[in-house]
Amino acid sequence: MGRSLYMARPIRSEAPCATCHSVPSAAPPTLLARYGRDNGFGWLDNEIVGAQVISVPYATATANAGRAFRGLMMALIATFAVTFAVVNSLLYSMLVRPVRRIVHIADRLSVGDMSAADFPQRGPKEITSLGRSFNRMRTSLDKALRLLER
Ligand code: HEC
Repeated sequence: MGRSLYMARPIRSEAPCATCHSVPSAAPPTLLARYGRDNGFGWLDNEIVGAQVISVPYATATANAGRAFRGLMMALIATFAVTFAVVNSLLYSMLVRPVRRIVHIADRLSVGDMSAADFPQRGPKEITSLGRSFNRMRTSLDKALRLLER
């Protein structure tokens, strides 16, 4: 069966045990039938008369522990994966995409294409104020160019 894990506990006789375990003549017939008249009698008070032993095969215990460990690991990995995906998509929709649009519009303006759309002014506070500043700069640039053309 391989290695086992044990837990043993002493069985101690107490005064009430003497009712049945003092002499064979006082013992219940079932006790005599099972253990005979020779052993299990004349117990003194507070004497260790036996041991209660519980044993579990080592393989069962390690299999249980392994299963619990794998379950925990799966839960951890799943949690991290979900968190990563959520944070990633939030970052993408709140920062990366608006910044890309701003870059695209700024690129077109920088080569003189004034037909480009306005800078986006939606999203988190930083993106909003960046878009507003760029729009203001664009207006100023427009005016300056028009002054030069006169
Ligand atoms: C009412 C009578 C009675 C009393 C009181 C009594 N026993 Fe027993 N005992 C029995 C009988 C009957 C058996 C045999 C049971 C069987 O296995 O069929 C037994 C069996 C046992 C066994 C062997 C069990 C085994 O599975 O090998 C131990 C050990 C034991 N008793 C301890 C005690 C202790 C300790 C006390 C006191 C706390 C006590 N007994 C009090 C009737 C009694």
